[in-house]
Amino acid sequence: MTDALFQNLERDFLLSKEKLAPIVSGFANEYKHGLKTPSRGLATMIPSFVTKLPKGNETGSFLSLDLGGTNLRISAVELLGNGQVRVLELKQSPSQELKTGAGAAFFDWIADAVKELITVKAPHLFTEAQVRGEVTLSLGVCWSFPVDQSAVDRGVILRMGKGFTLQETEGHDLADMFQQAFERKSLNVKVRAILNDTVGTLVAHAYSNPKARIGLIYATGINSAYPEKVEAIEKMDSAVRNKYPPGTEMLINAEIDIFGNESYLPLTKYDLALDASHNQPKFQIYEKMVSGAYLGELVRLIAIDFIKADLLFGGVVPEGLEELWSFPTAYMSALEAEADSLNREKGMEILSNFHFLHMPTLQDMAILTRICRIVATRSAYLASVAIASLIQQQQLLDQPEIVVGITGSTYEFYPHMADRLRCALREWFGADVTDKIKLEIARDGGSIGGALIAMLCRD
Ligand code: BGC
Repeated sequence: MTDALFQNLERDFLLSKEKLAPIVSGFANEYKHGLKTPSRGLATMIPSFVTKLPKGNETGSFLSLDLGGTNLRISAVELLGNGQVRVLELKQSPSQELKTGAGAAFFDWIADAVKELITVKAPHLFTEAQVRGEVTLSLGVCWSFPVDQSAVDRGVILRMGKGFTLQETEGHDLADMFQQAFERKSLNVKVRAILNDTVGTLVAHAYSNPKARIGLIYATGINSAYPEKVEAIEKMDSAVRNKYPPGTEMLINAEIDIFGNESYLPLTKYDLALDASHNQPKFQIYEKMVSGAYLGELVRLIAIDFIKADLLFGGVVPEGLEELWSFPTAYMSALEAEADSLNREKGMEILSNFHFLHMPTLQDMAILTRICRIVATRSAYLASVAIASLIQQQQLLDQPEIVVGITGSTYEFYPHMADRLRCALREWFGADVTDKIKLEIARDGGSIGGALIAMLCRD
């Protein structure tokens, strides 16, 4: 019986080359469609207006701000040349009230943090006139949410994911929201660049490896960026396009998180159940199958089915597990990290938030870990589509080396994720091409990327 249930699960979750094919071509169509469809409401293939990548020899000190799903980081970044950087960072997490409250209050909270960095934490990195507010400080803003950009330092805030439902924010210009908060807090800081975290990742990685052609975030959310020929970005006004010299490339924030629908994504009943219970249903369907924010919930839903079939935990749902989102992805990585030597004590420690009627057996732990492995492996295979399709979009297959800068907790900290991603690429491209693909960890895309773009776009 357990075998039958696992067989069904593996049939639905494990992706062979044949099953990957419609997803890769679905992505190719999304790229094509997104490049010519004006961004309204939900946007994909968003031009960043960044047309230069760093060479690694740039120097200077800059301010950057990075808002992700969990943390706000404000940094003083010193570019030292030779691809070297020094970063002094202030990190804070917004409360639930801030994430769901008035936009202005949220931006005030950010402005307070910027002030603290400049005046308390890192005044020695700025000139006295800058600290006193007599000279303007340039800021690069890395925003891990969709923004419809109209210039490198302008962009309309689109619908945010990751638990943010700020009021009176959507449809407003992001730079204006910052500028107004800086004024309210008497800060002489100017937003010089707005960038998606994927664009920041690609730029930051290009500082240490100028061959980088893809930036991938594989974390709480998932998304990618790559350089596209300006003449191919049909959604951009031709008068704007013509301003760029022929052959210029511009970084595109693909917003792959919102790609996909049932026509080409292999959605299972668990994906549909997760989506239906989410506070933003039908939004970010692909991301909900892949990223760290969701994998644990998928495992929880599957585990409940196993329990109901009397194949797990003696057929009794442990107290707490019936609650939506009660099984975070961190439990999956903890179980998988222990997989080979998992004993009941360690397992119970990981699952200590739940109350069991009967002490779980080793077999229970093995079943739960196997479910985690299946869900995480599908995630890696689906994430590989982001890379494979961008390699094809850029026709990089003939290149001797294909460099991808990747960052994010799901990729970096989930056990075996990097191997699984490579395995998926091998399934799609075969061993020879996959050997040429360098998956390199990109560091501090938000802070360094923000500073670099603020610098590259200064003139
Ligand atoms: C956001 C993207 C972001 C990605 C990775 C998604 O949820 O919509 O803008 O790049 O997460 O952080």
